[in-house]
Amino acid sequence: MSEALRAEGLAKTYAEGSLKTHVFHDLQLSVAEGETVAILGASGAGKSTLLHLLGGLDVPTAGEVWVAGQRMSDLSDAERGRLRNRALGFVYQFHHLLPEFTALENVMLPVLLNGTPIPEARQRAKDLLESVGLGHRIEHKPGELSGGERQRTAVARALVNKPACVLGDEPTGNLDEKTAAHVFAQMLDLNRAQRTSLVLVTHDRSLARRLDRVLELHDGKLRELAPSEV
Ligand SMILES: Nc1ncnc2c1ncn2[C@@H]1O[C@H](COP(=O)(O)OP(=O)(O)OP(=O)(O)O)[C@@H](O)[C@H]1O
Ligand SMILES: [Mg+2]
Repeated sequence: MSEALRAEGLAKTYAEGSLKTHVFHDLQLSVAEGETVAILGASGAGKSTLLHLLGGLDVPTAGEVWVAGQRMSDLSDAERGRLRNRALGFVYQFHHLLPEFTALENVMLPVLLNGTPIPEARQRAKDLLESVGLGHRIEHKPGELSGGERQRTAVARALVNKPACVLGDEPTGNLDEKTAAHVFAQMLDLNRAQRTSLVLVTHDRSLARRLDRVLELHDGKLRELAPSEV
């Protein structure tokens, strides 16, 4: 079975002058193609840090990450960027949309970066924004969208390239229950239709239960929870 994502001996220590924060060390994680994984953990446990390392957005203090079979440390910055754009979709805890572009342009951008012609990129972005209920807001810039609308735009952007793996940092955290359920269902649809793996950080245990595996980050260790513990 091929792996969407793999981490071995992963460690992260933040060093600010003499202040050192050891977030975790020696973490192992393997996410199979098509597998869905929830990551639970208290605030400050290191969940965002872990996702950033898995997504190649930050460099580990020790250890290695493989994305779609490619070892990140073997790649140049440019190659890493291309692999990220092609194989990963990221929904950040804070949305990171480009403020000067419309919702439509924000979602089109990763498709254009792949070399897709503009009309096709536009159509795919539009279809996806419609399916997250934003068909009427595509010309709005992030500053002209509500928090939940921004998050839905970010989810559309993460899914638009049909990545091998979506990394979501509380991807439905700011949404009302109904919209959260809808956006979550959409990620599960993509998982079923395209075998896209999902690694989702969440505080919502009812959401976590619907994924294949639930891991908890606690005291710098990643532990698999039994269904009865979730
Ligand atoms: N740039 C940084 N410099 C120093 N310490 C940092 C930095 N970023 C995060 N930390 C520390 O690392 C730890 C883990 O942070 P992280 O953001 O990964 O937590 P989290 O599990 O995502 O929390 P939350 O649920 O609140 O989002 C925290 O104690 C935090 O203070
Ligand atoms: Mg976080």
